Amino acid sequence: MTDPVIPPSPSAEDYAARLAANADETVFERTDPIALFIDWLEEAKASELNDANALCLATVDRAGMPDARMVLLKDVDQRGFTFYSNQESAKGMQLADQPSAALLFHWKSLHRQVRIRGQVEPVSAAEADAYFASRARESRIGAWVSDQSRPLDSRATLEARVAAKTAEFEGQEVLRPAHWSGWRVLPQSIEFWRDRAFRLHDRLRFDRQAEGWTRLRLWP
Ligand SMILES: Cc1cc2nc3c(=O)[nH]c(=O)nc-3n(C[C@H](O)[C@H](O)[C@H](O)COP(=O)(O)O)c2cc1C
Repeated sequence: MTDPVIPPSPSAEDYAARLAANADETVFERTDPIALFIDWLEEAKASELNDANALCLATVDRAGMPDARMVLLKDVDQRGFTFYSNQESAKGMQLADQPSAALLFHWKSLHRQVRIRGQVEPVSAAEADAYFASRARESRIGAWVSDQSRPLDSRATLEARVAAKTAEFEGQEVLRPAHWSGWRVLPQSIEFWRDRAFRLHDRLRFDRQAEGWTRLRLWP
């Protein structure tokens, strides 16, 4: 007997109605995982309700204890996957101690996930400045005021600090604070997973070697 709060497992009819796109075998002929990722992200943008670029970022702390939270992907190219945050946040401290991460994208509408693992490096100051400048002024002020991941006594304290910073910046550009920047995950492995009927899923993993990417299919 399953708890009624947990959705039931899909029936044969549910599977039959789902995603012919996930049966396309040509995905196993792809040789460039970044290009494949971008294709899947484009599809996700067209079908996800919101935030197709949202990913779960997993890090470890100094004691080896894993941690995970959502962030937004802000750039992707052959170098890797970029996100932005507060360097003094929990994730910022963890990445300073242990500059490696796992990323997970889950696109419910496509019944797909992508897993990425790799070393992490800071983006350049110029890159962070350019992205910061593209954000809404209020979001830039928010980056200045937030002591992200540290204790806050009340919403009123936050609002008072926003008001004070807004007044301080009046008539001025809101430039990037030194504690706010981006990280690029340099992928060592990228695994593409897609839902197939009766849990007989497809898995395709790329591993980076000195001479390029190798590719293998995994049992589900
Ligand atoms: C969909 C989604 C996207 C998010 N994007 C970001 C982001 O890009 N950068 C960020 O600092 N926090 C983002 N957050 C908030 C983080 O999940 C988290 O609460 C915050 O970064 C503090 O994490 P930490 O204490 O582990 O450092 C996002 C949350 C959600 C649900």
